[in-house]
Amino acid sequence: MNAPAKTEDFVATIPAGVFAETVTSVQHYTDHLFRFRMTRPESFRFRSGEFAMIGLMVGDKPIYRAYSIASPAWDEELEFFSIKVPDGPLTSHLQQIKPGDTVLMRKKPTGTLVLDALTPGKRLYMFSTGTGIAPFASLIRDPETYEKFDEVILTHTCREVAELKYGFDLVEEIRNHEFLAEVVGDKLRHYATVTREDFPFQGRITDLIANGKMFADLGVPRFDPAIDRGMICGSSAMLKETKALLEQAGLTEGANSKPAEFVIERAFVD
Ligand code: A2P
Repeated sequence: MNAPAKTEDFVATIPAGVFAETVTSVQHYTDHLFRFRMTRPESFRFRSGEFAMIGLMVGDKPIYRAYSIASPAWDEELEFFSIKVPDGPLTSHLQQIKPGDTVLMRKKPTGTLVLDALTPGKRLYMFSTGTGIAPFASLIRDPETYEKFDEVILTHTCREVAELKYGFDLVEEIRNHEFLAEVVGDKLRHYATVTREDFPFQGRITDLIANGKMFADLGVPRFDPAIDRGMICGSSAMLKETKALLEQAGLTEGANSKPAEFVIERAFVD
């Protein structure tokens, strides 16, 4: 199978309606997780939290998968956080990319995990598992999130501690960032839990909500539809169960066309 190539190798074969961008950095976290950054076309506009179709030429055909854009709307580059699936049609190739390689991106971003789909509130929860943290990596770096909410609670649950590193690095980056640090202040809280290793905070987020431990750990009251808002991104089972817990608490699902108290999106995997 062809390795990812440089733009000039296949520029003639790039389909219409697609950007061909250059990888600027790649960081591997575990055998299953990596992030990469690439150039951003000047004409590409998106709202923090949206996803785009990302692809590679494999042989003479492009293969695409939906990827949440992990960088905020103001960033001059684009960032993505990906799993590596050994025989995944896209990720088996994508995991081999290096700076200088070309990645394809369809021109139109979309998605429901956007601030516009939520009614005004005070506290915003972002519930994520695994690479589901990606759209929130975008939103927690967007000043608009902090204009709209007094408190932003990012929950991230993974099987193993090493898988949390992307999230920890991100929060650290924000706290040390030239202008974000001031905008964010102490509004951002990061609640990281692990399910298959020892760690100070353990358990599935659904269990920690149901048994009240998440609220106790954070020192916040239980969900209140008048002030709490939610965004959920993870596997389909996680989405379904977290959604049910929010609904039990009286929150309703919103959309771009009809903002309400919470929104959900699938994690995009091979
Ligand atoms: P667990 O280790 O108990 O399965 P995955 O890689 O399978 O998507 O899992 C990522 C994280 O999400 C794991 O910590 C996993 O916990 C957790 N998880 C899996 N399914 C659910 C679910 N239905 N609700 C909440 N968390 C879940």
